[in-house]
Formats: sequence, structure tokens, C-alpha cells
Amino acid sequence: MKRTILAAVSTAALLSSSAAYAGPEAEVLHWWTSGGEAKSVAVLQQEFADNGGTWTDMPVAGGGGDAAMTALRARVLSGNAPTAVQLKGPAIQEWYEEGVLADISAVAEAEGWADVLPASIAGHMKCEDIWCAAPVNVHRVDWIWANAQVLADNDIDMPTTWDEFNAAAQKLQAAGVIPLAHGGQAWQDATVFETVVLGLGGPDFYQQALVDLDPAALTSDTMVQVFDQMRTLRGFVDPNFSGRDWNLATAMVMNGEAAFQIMGDWAKGEFLAAGKTPGQDFLCASTPGDGFLYNVDSFAMFAVDGDDKQAGQQLLAKLIVGPSFQKVFNLNKGSIPARVDVALDEFDQCAHLSAKEMTSSSEGGSLLPSYAHGMALRGAQSGAITDVVTAHFNSDMSSADAVQMLADAVANSY
Ligand code: GAL
Repeated sequence: MKRTILAAVSTAALLSSSAAYAGPEAEVLHWWTSGGEAKSVAVLQQEFADNGGTWTDMPVAGGGGDAAMTALRARVLSGNAPTAVQLKGPAIQEWYEEGVLADISAVAEAEGWADVLPASIAGHMKCEDIWCAAPVNVHRVDWIWANAQVLADNDIDMPTTWDEFNAAAQKLQAAGVIPLAHGGQAWQDATVFETVVLGLGGPDFYQQALVDLDPAALTSDTMVQVFDQMRTLRGFVDPNFSGRDWNLATAMVMNGEAAFQIMGDWAKGEFLAAGKTPGQDFLCASTPGDGFLYNVDSFAMFAVDGDDKQAGQQLLAKLIVGPSFQKVFNLNKGSIPARVDVALDEFDQCAHLSAKEMTSSSEGGSLLPSYAHGMALRGAQSGAITDVVTAHFNSDMSSADAVQMLADAVANSY
């Protein structure tokens, strides 16, 4: 008798679950809300819909994703995690350690991710021995963007050293042009700071200071010079920079109000979305010095119940790493594909430069993770550094005090 009831119950459950199955669905938390970003994420929404998926969008505005990560924590703590989340770097492993990520190894293996992703990128997508995230792209952080006309009008070439940058900025300032478009948000200060660390200190110094957190590097004379240069850069920013979003700073370069912006190549997505042409309307060059700071966007799936949601996660993971998405998305986003087998013919000269220098820096040992974009350090450590960088940038703190504060903040962050 008991067996019959159980069988009946499970048959009913099966029937009701198959009757209720409405196809793959995903609630996707991301911070892609600027013009270029929104255009890019729309590519994924469209592909998901074309493959029978239902997408619930959860955009959380705020460049760099700080607000999105706060929203994520609130959702997970309330036991209601979104199914797919824009998540990257060591934060992926931090969430995995909390036991809340789904294993997407079945998709990764079926799709042969190990054969099409560089080992350095694949490493970020693994949690112990499982695949726990799907990579979207490779953004480069250490870029300078410039308004071509403004530089031509002022007889200025793209700077190749920080001294040249400073000289160009002084000339522009004298001519009444804002030299550096900058948004005063902590993550943007950190973005500029890490390019100065790389440029003035070189790749080995960057590794020691911002990846290994070596106290000797953090308190070195080189780090004092880095803060000196940050103070110099502060003088090239207009008085209204505080709190400005990064894409509004990009717009200042676009419309000729400012000459330069130091920002990752998501800024190129803004120029492109506005119909601007690289090499003609705007120029791109790596920030002075050797090396390449990478920032790989990726999505992690959170462990959720429900066939629809789980099917949505599998579909999303598959599409994200698929060759067609990797091409179209990255043409819009300003980045280059994470897959090595996507042809770059349709990509512009900045993307070609990025791909070329990613390969050469990888061979030369100077392909380095961006600390400012969460690729190098765990949240507590990167947060401690950014607090000091932004406190220095927004005050008259001396460089000597800043390095001491930096070393102390890092030491206290564990
Ligand atoms: C980065 C992210 C990019 C871009 C940028 C500005 O952290 O990796 O994709 O969106 O923030 O929001």
C-alpha cells in the first residue's frame, strides 16, 4: 500500500514538474548599464532568447561592479541568489568557498573549453578541480584614450613615457583644455594607480607590490614616486570630477572637452557605441611602460533549484563561451575574445594591438592581473589598497604617508 502511494506521489511530481517546465530561464545580475555595455549585454540576451531562453535582467548600475557585489551579497544572504552573476577573479573562488556556486563542468567538458581557452584564463574559471565560471572576454586595463583632433590642434603625440604625459598635459592645460578626464570614484582612482605602478615600477615591481603584496615593494622609493605621479595627475583633472561616472569621463574626451582618459578598453565600447572611429576620431595607446594588465569578465552560476533555472544556467554557460557570442559581444564591448580560435579580422586596430601585446607579454612574463578590477587579490586586500589610493588622491596626504598607510592597511587586511 505504502509503495503504491509513494509511486503515485512520485508520478504526480514528475508529471507536475514536466508540465511546469517552461524552458530555460535565467535571472542575470550584471553591471553593464553604460551605452557600450548595454549594447554588449543585449547580444547575450538576444542569443539566449533565440535559443528558447527567458531572461530576467538584474542590472545594478555602477562601474567596476561595487554596487552589484553589494546587491549580490544581500540576495545570497536572503537565500534568493540570482541564477547567473557577473563575477570575476578571486571573488569566484571566495563564493565557491561559501558553498553557493554551481558546478558547470558538464558544459565545459562537452564544449571543450580546455582546448579553446588560454591556461591563464581557464585557471580563473576553476574552483578546485571543477569549472565554476564562464569567461566572456579579455579587457586590457592599461590604456590611454585621446581625442585625435584635440591632440592635433595642440601638436601633441600620444605620450610614451609618464614625463611625456605630464609635459603634454601641461601644454593642454595652458591651452585651456582639461588634460585628463577622470571620474572621482574609488575604483577609477585605483584603475589609474595600477597603470602608474606598472609604468613607473615595471612588471616585476607590479607583481611584487600588487600581487605578492611584498611590504618592501609597498614602502619602496618606487612606490613613493607612484604616489607623486598620482598627485601630479590629480592636478590635471577638472574641479568637477568627484563622483563622475567613467562613461561621462569618456564623453568628455569624445566631445573635445578633455584630451585623455586612462581607462580599460570598455571605454572603447563607449566610443564605438557613439559611432566614433579609432585612429580617426579617437586614439588608443597603452599607458607608458611595459606589460599588460588583464581583466577577464566572467559569469558564475549560483546553486539554485528548479529544472528551468538549471537548464538556463547550462544554456547561458554554453552560449557565453560559444564562438559566435565571443565575436559579436567583444566587437561591441571593446575587449577581445577569451577564446583563442575567434578570428579578429573584423576587430579594430586597438583590439589588434591588445591581442598582439597580450601574446608578447604572456611570452615575456609581463601579463599581469588587474588588482583594480578584482583579478589579482581577494576582496579584503584589494579594498584595503583602494581605500589608501583614494584617500591620497582626494587629500593633500604626502607620498611618504601614503606608502606607510598602504603597508599598514595591507598588513591589517588579513
Ligand atoms: C569592469 C568590467 C568591465 C566594465 C567596467 C566598467 O570591472 O570588467 O566589463 O564593465 O568594469 O563598468
